[in-house]
Amino acid sequence: MYTVELNDFSKVPDYFSIFEHRKYGGHFLLASEKTPHIFPELADFEHMPNGPQIDYTVLEKDGFDTEHPLFICYVAEINKNLIGYAIAYYTYSTWCGKAMYLEDLYITPNYREKHIGSKLLKAIAKEAVNNNCCRLDFSVLEWNPACNFYKYKGATDMTIVEGWHHYRFSDTALKILAADP
Ligand SMILES: CC(C)(COP(=O)(O)OP(=O)(O)OC[C@H]1O[C@@H](n2cnc3c(N)ncnc32)[C@H](O)[C@@H]1OP(=O)(O)O)[C@@H](O)C(=O)NCCC(=O)NCCS
Repeated sequence: MYTVELNDFSKVPDYFSIFEHRKYGGHFLLASEKTPHIFPELADFEHMPNGPQIDYTVLEKDGFDTEHPLFICYVAEINKNLIGYAIAYYTYSTWCGKAMYLEDLYITPNYREKHIGSKLLKAIAKEAVNNNCCRLDFSVLEWNPACNFYKYKGATDMTIVEGWHHYRFSDTALKILAADP
């Protein structure tokens, strides 16, 4: 369990805690019936009309109720209410070996600019460094002000520096690709 020191930063609200989900036995804030709001919030924020296609039961199965969790998750809570989360997973680079990908970082609007996002990002960075990852990758929509947050934290925009574009075989394209002739 990774608990934030109180009075760590002047802007931190009266009480909040960050937990690494795997080690927070039995209290699954993220994969819970009570907190289905948090993923649609991020989808709305990112103007993604179709929203999340999975519910908390899938998250529970894939992240917590399994011998080999598919993701690492840190949550920020105030009085047992989920106010933010970060999800990441291991990837691999043939150039530098073990790496990590930050899938989501989200703070619910009323709690932004209180250093909670920084704490969650730091928790993921610690996980990556402690497990010998050579880098932390992620994608950000180009209009998202969070680009400035990440730049402020020291991240490099790989599209600008090296011209990388993020590609995807979505559901149908993937099935077509996988289909036998
Ligand atoms: C991006 C996000 C996670 C940042 O979390 P946060 O808790 O609000 O940010 P913090 O309070 O930790 O900010 C740390 C520092 O970055 C600065 N900062 C935060 N957001 C910023 C922004 N959009 N642009 C520039 N600076 C920013 C803060 O002012 C603060 O500066 P300080 O250390 O000098 O006081 C949060 O705004 C959020 O959830 N946004 C919506 C979802 C999103 O875009 N997620 C990322 C998708 S890739």
